[in-house]
Amino acid sequence: MEKKFKRTTVTSALPYANGPVHIGHLAGVYVPADIYVRYLRLKKQDVLFIGGSDEHGVPVTIRAKKEGCTPQDVVDRYHNLIKRSFEEFGISFDIYSRTTSPTHRELASDFFRTLDKNNKFVKLESEQFYDEGAKQFLTDRNIMGECPRCHAQGAYGDQCEKCGSTLSPDELINPVNALTGNPLVKRKTTHWYLPLNDYQQWLEQWILQEHKEWRPNVYGQCKSWLDLGLQPRAVTRDLDWGIPVPAEGGEGKVLYVWFDAPIGYISNTKELLPDSWEKWWKDPETRLIHFIGKDNIVFHCIVFPSMLKAEGSYILPDNVPSNEFLNLEGDKISTSRNWAVWLHEYLVDFPGKQDVLRYVLTANAPETKDNDFTWKDFQARNNNELVAVYGNFVNRALQLTKKYYDGVVPACGELTDYDRETLKEFADVKQDVEKLLDVFKFRDAQKEAMNLARIGNKYLADSEPWKVVKTDPERVKTILNISLQLAANLSIAFEPFLPFSSAKLREMLNMKEFDWSQLGSTDLLPAGHQLAEPSLLFEKIEDDAIQAQIDKLLATKKANEAAAHKANPIKPTISFEEFEKLDIRVGKVLECQAVPKMKKLLQFKIADGLENRTIVSGIAQHYKPEELVGKEVLFIANLAPRQFKNGLVSEGMILSAEDFDGSLAVTSLLREVAPGSEVK
Ligand code: 2FM
Ligand code: ZN
Repeated sequence: MEKKFKRTTVTSALPYANGPVHIGHLAGVYVPADIYVRYLRLKKQDVLFIGGSDEHGVPVTIRAKKEGCTPQDVVDRYHNLIKRSFEEFGISFDIYSRTTSPTHRELASDFFRTLDKNNKFVKLESEQFYDEGAKQFLTDRNIMGECPRCHAQGAYGDQCEKCGSTLSPDELINPVNALTGNPLVKRKTTHWYLPLNDYQQWLEQWILQEHKEWRPNVYGQCKSWLDLGLQPRAVTRDLDWGIPVPAEGGEGKVLYVWFDAPIGYISNTKELLPDSWEKWWKDPETRLIHFIGKDNIVFHCIVFPSMLKAEGSYILPDNVPSNEFLNLEGDKISTSRNWAVWLHEYLVDFPGKQDVLRYVLTANAPETKDNDFTWKDFQARNNNELVAVYGNFVNRALQLTKKYYDGVVPACGELTDYDRETLKEFADVKQDVEKLLDVFKFRDAQKEAMNLARIGNKYLADSEPWKVVKTDPERVKTILNISLQLAANLSIAFEPFLPFSSAKLREMLNMKEFDWSQLGSTDLLPAGHQLAEPSLLFEKIEDDAIQAQIDKLLATKKANEAAAHKANPIKPTISFEEFEKLDIRVGKVLECQAVPKMKKLLQFKIADGLENRTIVSGIAQHYKPEELVGKEVLFIANLAPRQFKNGLVSEGMILSAEDFDGSLAVTSLLREVAPGSEVK
């Protein structure tokens, strides 16, 4: 039997405040959570939507060190940027706070103390890498070394980014401090662990038996974790950025970021409602829903519930609708590779088009599998769906009403069978959308709402009021009355998905009051009601705007490819005497020409301050002969002459630098000197 709830607490994963947010965040977590919350609010249910930034963790400290600022500077900057991006996209949090807030620090510390006092932790000693120079233990991500698999330098203690292998720091060859290059030693350290193994049986019952309705991806991931058997997990770290461990022996240690972050949901509720927060977290009649991405499943379904269970006074999540990942133009979104569409940049490039992105991300939501965002699809969905169907219908209904009736809603006359059929289809939509939203199928729910617009668009196209007006003006009143009722319905149906456009449409319809229960009704706008001035709900997106975005990504790809190339290792050392044997000189190019049948070669006549010489060089694919005539170049003057197949003899070698992409650049001087000058 379905349980009855009095209220719903909705949380959305707290994004790390060590970088801006991108479309993957929006599609995976925040848009679905916002749709759900807006829907519940429209149904007049008691709901709280909790968000905030996750401000602890190693990546923040790494970024701070790189930028030469404090971790607090880093999180201040990104917390504000992220908060603003969410506001701009209409993510309607009741609170968006942060894990560096005093309320959070206090609540997370209390939570830890309660578990510690009730013997819910075990303390274990282990050996960890230690930097004696910096006097600090290093986390996996802060350790670097040679990959034991592909032997690339610069593999991290948790992963080699070159070959993708998952690693542990012990496997690295010559591990060093990633930031300073200092060598490391092993040292003993003690940490607090949550013995997840003690919760194994309970979790098996609670998830595998009692929550079979969870999405298959979520249920499946939980099952594989449980099948492997749970182990104790450390909830503290040797680090100086985070919430200090409030226990004896906790000096120099902080709570692990994944211990404090989910408690952030609770602290943020407390910050918002200091007097009544507990009912949102402790009353069994409250339903708790966590919106997250798939990399967060284990923490929200296994670790956090075990923490809550250990504490004893909290409710557990009722559902954890996790999405899979969104890719961008066929590639995994990556902050470090700058392969993303950043929300703050989108807002500059497409001002006022927040709903377009919300629409496309929901239409393509990675609900059951990873999905791909492409700019072409973005354009097509805007132009062919939002503009051509929804926008077109609304615009025609409003413009015709303005033209024929000065924007006053005409009275509905007698209905035809076709009118009745159309209205019937409309009446069913409420139920259809509800059924889908109730089970977190946002993509299908939005499709239903769009179908509604399609029905309206088809109704108007089939009814042709612009023709009928000449023969049967009374009939036009009915057609437009029905069309306007449909438009009013659309503003409600789309409210959870496209809040900005719905508000704009209601403004044009001069519709003050509305709620979900009215969806499907045919008298939302009474006859005689005055509409406001119509304007376009959506605008076409032109090819050049899309091309600009594609070009931006291409430039990123190029930059990444260049950065991925590492310089070759330095050759074995030579003595000064050996160096002195090389006779490098400056020569002036007197003549330069292609060599017949030898595509790669250019033949030079070089003034060398003596008798001039011929040099043949393999740079024909990189320079045209005329580009080099008159230039000064560097060449090796004492290299043994070399004969080519066609009999040509090269008396030396012109020096060029080979770029990472294989292209060659001839070396030159910063000022002109006499040909034959020696290079020392
Ligand atoms: O994966 C992430 O971005 C984490 N910062 C999510 C934390 S969710 C919650 F536990 F706060
Ligand atoms: Zn590797």
